[in-house]
Amino acid sequence: MTLKSRTPTAATLADIQAPVTGPLARVHEEMWRIVAVDSDMLRGVSEHLMLMKGKMVRPTLLLLASETLGAAEERAASYAAVMELIHLATLVHDDAVDHSVLRRGMPTVNALFTHEVAVIAGDFLYSRAVQELVRLGDLEVLRVFANASNELTVGEMRQLGALDALAFSEHDYEFLIKCKTAALFKASCEVGALCGATRFRSELATFGERLGMAFQVADDLLDYTAAAATTGKPTGLDLREHKVTLPLIAALRTMSPAERAVVDELFAAPEPTGEQVARVVEVVEGEGGLDYARSRGEEYLSQAEEALTSLPESAARQALQDAMWYVMDRRS
Ligand code: IPE
Ligand code: IPE
Ligand code: MG
Ligand code: MG
Repeated sequence: MTLKSRTPTAATLADIQAPVTGPLARVHEEMWRIVAVDSDMLRGVSEHLMLMKGKMVRPTLLLLASETLGAAEERAASYAAVMELIHLATLVHDDAVDHSVLRRGMPTVNALFTHEVAVIAGDFLYSRAVQELVRLGDLEVLRVFANASNELTVGEMRQLGALDALAFSEHDYEFLIKCKTAALFKASCEVGALCGATRFRSELATFGERLGMAFQVADDLLDYTAAAATTGKPTGLDLREHKVTLPLIAALRTMSPAERAVVDELFAAPEPTGEQVARVVEVVEGEGGLDYARSRGEEYLSQAEEALTSLPESAARQALQDAMWYVMDRRS
């Protein structure tokens, strides 16, 4: 690791959130206010979703970015709530698309209700978020959210449209994670900047994007290495769903024909078994795919760190810096 700020003890999520605990508590209240609805069915789904609390990484980044030059505008908490609702909408749709049954340690909407309900619930959350943005009336912020949401769908569609999964290149992968994950991280930091640090809008946007790339690489690594009990969502799911991520892309380059046959067998199986997944994970690890992905993730973090250099010292800036360690070292 070559990052200048690397410290021996990795920061926890609580450390990063410490400078913004006050506004973060308001974000929860804002989310409840924004999704309040006069329909039993939608209220049932919303309540289930709001009880499955996530890590709140994007609202945290938005609030920290907004405080890099001192006290931020109050509306930052509402934008942070909108950001988390858009993220939640994408998770609801993503779990329906990925046929996943577990999210944040609880049943997904598609598992608890139906696939159809998941489609409509995702649209509900998204449209509520847009209504709130219109209410707040800042066209520039609306533009950032709209562009990020659109980029996200382009990314997700691209992943679905990959015809020969095993021909997916590192370049394709980079484009995909930039759209499907880094776009919201970038928008979080950019909207934060618009609420109190406009001068550093472009630096914070770059920071967010690079951090988001590393975040998705770490997520893809966790899918190979972690247990569902710690992540709160199924692991090994990417391979079961025939999704090719960076560890496999890297490992494919050096595999022997026998190892490649193990991979081909999984990709030919309509419903791969746990044993098939475990064998591919072993091959990928043996070929250094996990190490390669880790080092790429750290390169994205170096780029994130670079983007922060011109920002003045502050508790919020330090927390953004610490967020880099949290992102790659996290267990869930
Ligand atoms: C999950 O995001 C989706 C990815 C982009 C990998 P998070 O890991 O932030 O999920 P929650 O919000 O904490 O559940
Ligand atoms: C990120 O990809 C999904 C979104 C950007 C919505 P994944 O499919 O890997 O996310 P998880 O692992 O289900 O959270
Ligand atoms: Mg998924
Ligand atoms: Mg994942």
